[in-house]
This record gives sequence, structure tokens and C-alpha cells, in this order.
Amino acid sequence: MPDALQISAVCDAGQIAAAARLAREIWYEYYVSLIGRAQVDYMLERFQTARAIGEQISRGYEYFLVERSDTPIGYFAVRADAAERRLFISKLYLHASSRGAGTGRRCMEFIEQLASRRGLPVLWLTVNKGNPSVAAYQRLGFRIAAEIEIDIGGGFLMDDYRMEKQVAACIPEPRGVDSRP
Ligand SMILES: CC(C)(COP(=O)(O)OP(=O)(O)OC[C@H]1O[C@@H](n2cnc3c(N)ncnc32)[C@H](O)[C@@H]1OP(=O)(O)O)[C@@H](O)C(=O)NCCC(=O)NCCS
Repeated sequence: MPDALQISAVCDAGQIAAAARLAREIWYEYYVSLIGRAQVDYMLERFQTARAIGEQISRGYEYFLVERSDTPIGYFAVRADAAERRLFISKLYLHASSRGAGTGRRCMEFIEQLASRRGLPVLWLTVNKGNPSVAAYQRLGFRIAAEIEIDIGGGFLMDDYRMEKQVAACIPEPRGVDSRP
């Protein structure tokens, strides 16, 4: 019997509010020990209120709610860049009770299919250097492409890795290989 994992595009105010609620719960639980309470306060207020999420959606970000048996357990957000032919994974956060059981991998498969359908061969994201999720992304096929510092205002700097993954279905055939039957 298939499990009851559901991934739905965030379209209405109720879904935006659910994503903002999850952001508060997950970020306070997970990020305070990594980056400190003041930076979490600042980032939530600046990037993850319902209003901020609504503005991001109007600028081309796509948010998705992850639910199990109709209960929200996480969310992610992506932004397609057709000119650069890549997809930015801007957010991917699961509730503590839903980690480590393959849900992140399911979300990544969903994102890869989305990128593949849109002809975007590269996925990329940024992740705090001290975040144990760096190892999870490596298990999911990402590699560290660069070290970056991002000034997010308010006196805060993000000390991150930029990680990248080639989307399997979009990998061009090597030069010189003749794929004709
Ligand atoms: C990162 C996150 C989305 C991954 O989702 P998840 O459901 O926990 O991951 P999965 O169970 O699908 O695991 C995927 C792979 O990563 C590995 N993995 C997961 N968490 C890991 C960790 N903390 N350290 C090392 N490996 C890890 C798993 O073993 C698995 O590899 P395998 O299938 O080869 O055994 C989730 O843990 C999360 O929300 N973390 C907190 C918030 C966060 O850091 N988000 C990323 C912000 S950039």
C-alpha cells in the first residue's frame, strides 16, 4: 500500500500560512544551535513570514508543502532559472519527527523530476558549512562546488557551501557517442 506522502504546490493563503508556521517551528528547533537565536529571529522575520513567502512566490519562487496523512511535515522552495538552465533549491526543511526516514530523498526526487521536465540540467543550493545536512546532500548526489559568504543584512553573514547536482535525465550524451540504433 502506498504511504500517504503528499507534495503540493503552495497556492493559497492557507498554504502560505502553513509554510510560515512550519518555518518558525523548524528553524527555532534546528538553527538556533547552528547560527544563534538573533540570526534565526532576523531570517524568519525577513524571509519566512507569510507576507515574505507571498512576495517570493510573486517573484517566481515556487513553494511546496510536504504532508503525511494530511499533516504538514515540511516544505521546500525552488526557483527556476531558464537562462542559466538550472534550478535553485532555496529551502528544504522537514520537521524533526520526519527526518532520517527517506522523506528528504522523496522530495529531492520530486525536485529532480521538476527540473528534468523543464529542461534544467543542474540543481544547486546553499547550505551552512556547519550544518550536518551537508552530508545528507552528498548522499543525495550533490557535490560542494564553492565556499561562499552571503551578506543577508542586519549585520549577519551566511558562511555557506554552494552545492550542485547534475540531473540524471538531463545529462547530455558524451561527445562522440552515437546513440542511433
Ligand atoms: C536535510 C533534510 C531535508 C534531509 O531529509 P531526510 O528525510 O532527513 O533525509 P533522508 O532520510 O531522505 O536521507 C537521505 C540520505 O541522506 C542521509 N542523511 C540524512 N541526514 C543525514 C545526516 N544528518 N548526516 C549524514 N547523512 C544523512 C541518509 O542516510 C540518506 O542516505 P542513504 O539513502 O544513502 O542512506 C532533513 O534532514 C532536514 O530537514 N534537516 C533539517 C533542516 C536542514 O538542514 N535543511 C537543509 C537546509 S539547506
